[in-house]
Amino acid sequence: MTGPATGVIWAALPVPTFLLARNGPNGSEMILDCNPAAEQFLSTSLKSIKGQPAFDKLMIDAPMEDALARTRANQAAIFVNDVYVGTGDRPPQICNLQLAPLGDDRDVVLMLIAPREIAGRLGRAEAVKSAAKSAIGMADMLAHEIKNPLAGIAGAAQLLSMNLSNSDRELTDLIVEETRRIVKLLEQVEQFGNQRPPDCRPVNIHDVLERARRSAIVGFAAHMTVREAYDPSLPLVWADPDQLLQVFLNLLKNAAEAQPNGGRILIKTFFEHSLRVKSRSGTGHALPLHVEIKDDGPGLPPSIASDVFDPFISGRENGTGLGLALVSKIIAEHDGWVAVDSMPGRTVFRISLPLAPNPRKAALKETS
Ligand SMILES: Nc1ncnc2c1ncn2[C@@H]1O[C@H](COP(=O)(O)OP(=O)(O)OP(=O)(O)O)[C@@H](O)[C@H]1O
Ligand SMILES: [Mg+2]
Repeated sequence: MTGPATGVIWAALPVPTFLLARNGPNGSEMILDCNPAAEQFLSTSLKSIKGQPAFDKLMIDAPMEDALARTRANQAAIFVNDVYVGTGDRPPQICNLQLAPLGDDRDVVLMLIAPREIAGRLGRAEAVKSAAKSAIGMADMLAHEIKNPLAGIAGAAQLLSMNLSNSDRELTDLIVEETRRIVKLLEQVEQFGNQRPPDCRPVNIHDVLERARRSAIVGFAAHMTVREAYDPSLPLVWADPDQLLQVFLNLLKNAAEAQPNGGRILIKTFFEHSLRVKSRSGTGHALPLHVEIKDDGPGLPPSIASDVFDPFISGRENGTGLGLALVSKIIAEHDGWVAVDSMPGRTVFRISLPLAPNPRKAALKETS
């Protein structure tokens, strides 16, 4: 049996991949070839960049000359992790680079650019799911053990307050107020634990996004400018609309809370078929439909950036840290992916979802 042709493998590589040769003026690196993922990454076609200087198109914040020279000299692969790669028309993204010599031709180097967003999320799905599970157990325990005595404490404080002077009553009011706050927190925790499995059906993602957007702009995001960039030709997704609404509300709320004095939020949808993941049943499946919620706020606090999807991780004074844990849990149960890419001035949460079986494009077009 023969394997797939190299051209097919080249086209299927989901990360931007280039062939570089040192045959430009003064030995500069030129692009010999690139795969479709690289064309997408640079928002251009192979035709327009073939034979062009590589580092005119790719701004890489690392000593690339040195790395390429070592790859050629040692004829061995080199990994360069966590470097910023800019493409001219989009802000730099943190990526992991892999350089490898190309067989017989000692001058040609293969360069793979894996945006860290993709690199990062592949490893963490299972960890997120198990963290969410342990939070559910804790939620049940906490809610049952603490809510009842709290009700007793609040009731006793209210009784006491009847016979107290005004200045002392301030103290009992404080007890009542604070116990209420804890009860509210516990209710949120309980809600997190009680989430039912998704009731999936074909859903027009834009209907759900519009519901989330409308409720955001009249409520918690009233101080923000919210714009949308929808691709109206998108097919239907396979999802539970109420749970997706919760996901988008949580993301919009975080974006709005990151900028209490106002800022911009962009809700974008698009189709891109390069992302395939293993589902819970172990089979690979495509997640071609993407929703991005982007804001121009300060970005994730660096101290919690790698753990924001874990329960009880919050960078806000009164945050419970359950918003993103719930997002992660719901999306995992939809066999989807959630990823974040954040730096000061630009934070993007991306949700990737599977299509409904037999996508009914026509039906969607009629309703959108
Ligand atoms: N768009 C964003 N910009 C900046 N920081 C963010 C953004 N989204 C989330 N964060 C950070 O991640 C933390 C965790 O978010 P998450 O939604 O899980 O919890 P929370 O907002 O603190 O509390 P809750 O959503 O439960 O009320 C936030 O506290 C905030 O510090
Ligand atoms: Mg939140």
